[in-house]
Amino acid sequence: MYPIEIVDTGLRYECDERQSLLRGMERLGKRGIPVGCRGGGCGVCKVRVVSGQCQLEKMSSECVSDDDLAEGVVLACKAFPRSEVRVELVDKLQRCVNKSLSKA
Ligand code: FES
Repeated sequence: MYPIEIVDTGLRYECDERQSLLRGMERLGKRGIPVGCRGGGCGVCKVRVVSGQCQLEKMSSECVSDDDLAEGVVLACKAFPRSEVRVELVDKLQRCVNKSLSKA
């Protein structure tokens, strides 16, 4: 288990190395975490890895461009932690989670 922190939200969770960052995030049970395909095809689960190491499975270039990858943007459903990881939410995931946190 590795500690994962979602910066700017105060959310933290533990994630097993066989579990994707998205799966761990879903287990937080927060409303607002959109459940997509979980298979690297829809792109709703984009995050930017701010620090830490993740093992990445193959991601569709339609969802994650080379520019995204260069900036550390990955799909949370295809990223498996290999250390303590800090991520920043981007795009849809960021909008959905911020909306739900602001209502809480
Ligand atoms: S949930 Fe669809 S790409 Fe991650």
